[in-house]
Amino acid sequence: MKISVIGCGYLGAVHAASMAELGHEVVGIDVDAAKIEMLSAGRAPFYEPGLPEILTSARESGRLTFSTDMADAAGAAVHFIAVGTPQKKGEYAADLTYVNGAVDALIPFLAEGDLVVGKSTVPVGTAADLAARVETVGASLAWNPEFLREGFAVQDTISPDRLVYGVAAGEPGQRAKAQLDEIYAKALSEDTPLVVTDYATAELVKVAANAFLATKISFINAMAEIAEVSGADVTQLADAIGHDARIGRRFLNAGVGFGGGCLPKDIRAFSARAEELGRGESVAFLKEVDAINLRRRQRVVDLVIETLGGQPFQKKVAVLGLAFKPDSDDVRDSPALDVAVQLHGRGADVLAYDPEAMANSARLHPQLNFAESVDAALQDADVVVVVTEWKEFRALDPVRVAELTRGKIVVDGRNCLDAVAWRAAGWTYKGMGRP
Ligand code: UDX
Repeated sequence: MKISVIGCGYLGAVHAASMAELGHEVVGIDVDAAKIEMLSAGRAPFYEPGLPEILTSARESGRLTFSTDMADAAGAAVHFIAVGTPQKKGEYAADLTYVNGAVDALIPFLAEGDLVVGKSTVPVGTAADLAARVETVGASLAWNPEFLREGFAVQDTISPDRLVYGVAAGEPGQRAKAQLDEIYAKALSEDTPLVVTDYATAELVKVAANAFLATKISFINAMAEIAEVSGADVTQLADAIGHDARIGRRFLNAGVGFGGGCLPKDIRAFSARAEELGRGESVAFLKEVDAINLRRRQRVVDLVIETLGGQPFQKKVAVLGLAFKPDSDDVRDSPALDVAVQLHGRGADVLAYDPEAMANSARLHPQLNFAESVDAALQDADVVVVVTEWKEFRALDPVRVAELTRGKIVVDGRNCLDAVAWRAAGWTYKGMGRP
């Protein structure tokens, strides 16, 4: 099938390459000429395992092209909208400028019978609005939220754990379903769950899923706060409650909290939308989820300063990790980067290292100092802080690290180190919600 993907950011670039990988003829469109140039050359504009490989194979097959010209979307039967919906400046609500702009720019190139498929995360009610607009030229609309995780984006797109189609009622909806079935035919196994529903439910599925995940993380971080004043160990608590299949152990890792381009902005946009709908109280708890999350960054900063006797000035702090999670170079709303910035702001001599996210961090915070390697960051450090659980940090040998550093204090903001081994090597180990 001929497909266009409007917006080649994180979601769109992965989606375009994955659709080509599934055998479709795809054009990816974006207003950012530099991004289009990179993608056209078969290079990924961000770090994502597996993406360079499928970009190369799609390019070689000739099934994937990129363009800055919306006119190149003409002739495709299905058009995916994958542009960003960032948080509005100074507000909680989502900024729909890019979604509205993309649809307006696409409309002149739509043919009768075309299907426009929304993938961006939007406030409930947006799809109905967009449907009315594309119907003016005889096209129709479906809402097909994505649930991809950074670091696993290709895998999550090519073999999704479920698909959700929000479609119009009646015959147009059935046609949209058939078109989407055809697109995803190779991605679906016999038992991939498929939920076919209305627009509003499809839009809400996405925000509800992210709100639930964020709540789960803040729940365990709230337990970490209680553990800290009662002497309990939140990691054992998570293991024990996680054995209950109704609760489950995943997403119960206490630490410095969640970040990234989705969870923080999505829970805020959800609160703002619920308020617009007169039901702010229904999701009032999300404000608490956000507040708990932000407190955990503060906790790491306070712990470091406390271990320095309250005197961070001219003390060397090795900050290991800047990305919001491992296997990513993304620093949007990253708790790790925030910790580095706050410690620097409090007067500590911060030297930060991340295997992939230093360039993005430097662009946002040029005042920070970055090390060329983990060893260079550790050299003469008074305190070591781990805030992103990259494999190479988890594998650090505490005996060898002690030969590089000046102090022997480690703050494990992700509970990812072996506390027993670090203590056995003479370190003062401080975790999150652990004695
Ligand atoms: C998330 C959703 O998982 C995905 O389904 C949605 O499509 C987009 O948003 P992503 O932002 O890639 O994906 O990251 P995710 O793996 O969910 O992690 C989000 C944040 O939560 C990270 O900062 C991570 O470190 C943190 N986290 C996750 C915890 O602090 N504890 C956990 O137990 C799990």
